[in-house]
Amino acid sequence: MTAELLGQAEWIRVEATLGLSSSSQSDRGQFFTPDLAAKLIADLPATPSGAVIRVLDPGAGSGMLTAALVERAVREHWSSQIDVEAIEIDATLIPALRRTAEAAEAFARQNQVDVRVHVREADLIQLWSGIDAELTNDFDLVIMNPPYRKLAASSWQRMALGVLGWESPNLYAAFVALGVECLRDGGQLVAITPRSFANGPYFGQFRKKLLDEMAFDRLHTFESRSTVFSDTGVLQENIVFSATKNGKRNHVLITSSQGHRDHQVARTVDYAELVFPTDPEQFIRITTDGHDDDAVQFVSGMPSLLSTLGLSVSTGRVVDFRCRANLVPKPSDDSVPLVYPGNLRQGTIEWPKAIGKDQGFQLREESDHKALMPSGTYVVVKRFSSKEERRRIVAAVWNPEKNGNSAVAFENHLNVFHHDGHGLDPELAWGLCLWLNTSVIDRCFRTFSGHTQVNATDLRSMRYPDEVMLRALARGADHLPDQDDLDLLLEQIMWESVVA
Ligand SMILES: C[S@@+](CC[C@H](N)C(=O)[O-])C[C@H]1O[C@@H](n2cnc3c(N)ncnc32)[C@H](O)[C@@H]1O
Repeated sequence: MTAELLGQAEWIRVEATLGLSSSSQSDRGQFFTPDLAAKLIADLPATPSGAVIRVLDPGAGSGMLTAALVERAVREHWSSQIDVEAIEIDATLIPALRRTAEAAEAFARQNQVDVRVHVREADLIQLWSGIDAELTNDFDLVIMNPPYRKLAASSWQRMALGVLGWESPNLYAAFVALGVECLRDGGQLVAITPRSFANGPYFGQFRKKLLDEMAFDRLHTFESRSTVFSDTGVLQENIVFSATKNGKRNHVLITSSQGHRDHQVARTVDYAELVFPTDPEQFIRITTDGHDDDAVQFVSGMPSLLSTLGLSVSTGRVVDFRCRANLVPKPSDDSVPLVYPGNLRQGTIEWPKAIGKDQGFQLREESDHKALMPSGTYVVVKRFSSKEERRRIVAAVWNPEKNGNSAVAFENHLNVFHHDGHGLDPELAWGLCLWLNTSVIDRCFRTFSGHTQVNATDLRSMRYPDEVMLRALARGADHLPDQDDLDLLLEQIMWESVVA
């Protein structure tokens, strides 16, 4: 019976999607939620209480999330009156939204549930921040699949949010911020968003404010890079979360499934495992099974920070399109090696190499020296892995002896570990490289990062073995072993350090 409303809403969604122009789809982030994903989202928050439940559906599109929520209210026989405010900027979508709203109201009426949906054609951010601001902050529930679009620092949307103390580099973050602002204390926000706000500096301020104001109750992750919006061509890692404004931070229920149609695995973790209380970056760590827990515990139990090892990590200094005049295809007398991610292979750096990229950096002016690192041993980690790659963290060592002991230029798609701007001791460097290539590091990294990008901040935020252990690791292998052998080597070194 309840499938009836979702079925109708799904037809309207598909029709509305077909009517979109590709420019408005990308400008306005119009990727509508399929029925089963909408049901998963609407089922996430706790049942709201009160005689009247005020719901906000910002960026309502064709109304899929409202339909899924009403379907839940009917299925669970909610006795409250449900008042939904559905806001959509695109006039061409309003007829579809109205049809879904009417279907939802009629369906609820037939089942003796009191639902009123108020459709509003408006820009959410203007509605909040305009002279005659019309949005209130007494909503019980905000349910959203916000649009995704980068916001320039100078954009009016970003400034409007900045006034409220929210730094929102993306429209999705701005929507979440306004969702939080519209809630009463104890109200809930449920959203499907990219996972990118969970770590990294880009969303740092946004994340801290969100974690300050909201307590996460439930999180759902999809293991396969998203099948959720597969019929709309969106491929990014999404999470669904529900959180309570100024709620209690005791436990969080984490569920995961392959895609939105698949079986869910559930586990409860302490809040302090989701966000380490001592973590200055406030990364949101999503451990989906005991193996993830073990990896996080193992890595966070390590004795060193990069700084205590005397090391730093920064991004490669050469942004190639900004210094084309300095790039030469092949090594020459007046150039130094230029290293790209494509030069990395099995823990070492093959240079020069035919990778379709210039292999030399020519010194033309005095100031060009700034782009170089002095001759030395460096550990580098790719900043981006391809979606197909098995590992997110791929590390290798630059060996100066194999390359004429010259200074070296690292391209900007690499993170470079150094010792105060200089090279590392070669044994320490090799140990660090092996450590970074272990499975436990990759697994730990994936608990706080949903994207293929590895930021220097991510590498700085992790803990490391001490120098003795890193050197022992280095002495255990003179080349990068197969993954299983490397993991066994690490186990052995750890065991030896315990019994020593
Ligand atoms: C990702 S879609 C989701 C639609 C719907 N909630 C769903 O789940 O199917 C985001 C919607 O937000 C709308 N939108 C984009 N910018 C907006 C704004 N500033 N104010 C209101 N709606 C906006 C888009 O037109 C689009 O319909």
